[in-house]
Amino acid sequence: MKKLIIINGPNLNLLGKREPNIYGSLTFTEFLEEVRKKYKDIQIDYFQSNIEGELIDKIQDVGFSYDGIILNAAAYTHTSVGIGDAVKAIETSVIEVHISNTFGREEFRHQSYISPNAKGVILGFGLQSYELAIQSFI
Ligand code: DQA
Repeated sequence: MKKLIIINGPNLNLLGKREPNIYGSLTFTEFLEEVRKKYKDIQIDYFQSNIEGELIDKIQDVGFSYDGIILNAAAYTHTSVGIGDAVKAIETSVIEVHISNTFGREEFRHQSYISPNAKGVILGFGLQSYELAIQSFI
C-alpha cells in the first residue's frame, strides 16, 4: 500500500472557521474523511502544526520512508528557509499545495521557499488542491 502524508502548517487547524471566503467552510477533518473513503487503497496520514520546528521534525521523520508528502506550509511557505532546506534534504517527493491562488494575493505570498525543491506545485483549487496532489502519486 502506498503511504502518503498531508502536512499542514500554521492556522490550517482553523479551516472551516478561518476566512471562509478564501479557505471554504469545510473542516479539514471532514475533508480528510471524504478523501480517505475515496482513496481506500492508499494510506493517507495527516499532521498539522503551528510550530515551524515540529513541521521540520515531521518532514525529516517521514522523508526517507513515505511515497509522497503533500505539504501546505501555509505562512511558513513564504518565510521558512528551514522548511525549504528540510524539503531539499529528504528523498521523498514533496508536492507543495495551497488552497488559495497565492499569486492572486499579496506580493509577499508570491515567494515560496518550498517550490524550488518540490516535485510540483498545486494551488488555487480550494481543498481540491490536496486531492489533485494525491492523484499525482497514483
Ligand atoms: C495558504 C496560503 C498562505 O499564503 C497562507 O499564509 C495560508 C494558507 C493556502 O493554502 O492558500 O495560511 O497556504
